[in-house]
Amino acid sequence: MAKYRIAWLPGDGVGNDVMECARLVLDMLDFDAEYVPGDIGWGFWKAEGEALPERTKTMMKETDCALFGAITSKPKEEADKELTPELQSKGFIYFSPIVQLRQEFNLHTNRRPCKAYAGNPLNYRDDIDIVIFRENTEGMYGGVEFYPLPQEVYDVLDRNHPKMKKFEKFGLENIAVSTRIMTRQGCENIVKRAFEYAKKFGRKSVTVVDKPNVLRETGGLMLRTAREVAKDYPDIPLWETNIDAQCMWLVKNPQDYDVIVAENMFGDILSDLAAQLVGGLGFACSANVGDDYAVFEPTHGSAPKYSGQYKVNPMAMLLTAKMMLEWLEEVDSAATLEDAVMEVIAEGKVKTYDMGGSDTSLQVAEAVAAKL
Ligand code: IPM
Ligand code: MG
Repeated sequence: MAKYRIAWLPGDGVGNDVMECARLVLDMLDFDAEYVPGDIGWGFWKAEGEALPERTKTMMKETDCALFGAITSKPKEEADKELTPELQSKGFIYFSPIVQLRQEFNLHTNRRPCKAYAGNPLNYRDDIDIVIFRENTEGMYGGVEFYPLPQEVYDVLDRNHPKMKKFEKFGLENIAVSTRIMTRQGCENIVKRAFEYAKKFGRKSVTVVDKPNVLRETGGLMLRTAREVAKDYPDIPLWETNIDAQCMWLVKNPQDYDVIVAENMFGDILSDLAAQLVGGLGFACSANVGDDYAVFEPTHGSAPKYSGQYKVNPMAMLLTAKMMLEWLEEVDSAATLEDAVMEVIAEGKVKTYDMGGSDTSLQVAEAVAAKL
């Protein structure tokens, strides 16, 4: 029996291309794993009305962790249109499978390193090394949304908040509401993870990003909780910034930032911004981590137009595999893999189109594999 069972979830679009690359590289390492394929992705939505079938979740429960490629997500109307005719108007609702996985497996912590590897021509600067901790199950992406606004919900809000009245004249059928529900426990957990990481890896600061001057309740809770948690880490300064200013500072002085912690949506936005500073989504890796399970995914989407063309940069996926190895405490394999990625980048000989090259995803993965 293999030492690890890994749920293998390529998804759709370029998810398949990059997962093939991951496999090429993992097979070269001293890593004893069985890979269990799982059904997930746009094709399953179209055919079954569920992009993440129950059988996949059941299978995942028998594994140590999951490696995930990418999945197409489309807005409501388009998703409904693409559903197989027999399932249309039967009440199926598309819900992003990765968001579902994060919530159902309680993968509360999304860690997204953004590191400038030497020699990457796409680096904005060469001295950037930021790690973003994004709260992953609540906040703006918690999924509690309404449209049209039900009368009962309107009434409750109106009874409890003086500002609700002004919306009444528009008619409930014209009002959409997305909530931003945050808990003290959720804030505390993500800030603690950020500090623990900073402590373990000798990072110089933790920056908590929100907007407490406007989002007084949720932002305020995040800020107060962060200050409370920070007391346990007197050697690591806590910096506090607003999301808008932080976007500007990341473009102006990205080298000043180290560990950044934010609520779900703000973390999502910041992590794309930070990724672009170090080569773009072709290098952006991430780990969705819970107490005893984790799903590893490159931050990029499924880019359906490139599907099967082996065109996209597989580095994000390879670095994601590295994060999986770290989480499994296969630290030597993880370090070997990162070194190989770094060498290939530094040599600059084998490159996908985004880096100004014309090599395929597979050729890049083979170059990395050859170093192992
Ligand atoms: C990400 C993506 C997802 C998110 C989408 C695809 C649901 O943007 O992982 O950053 O918003 O979390
Ligand atoms: Mg995103």
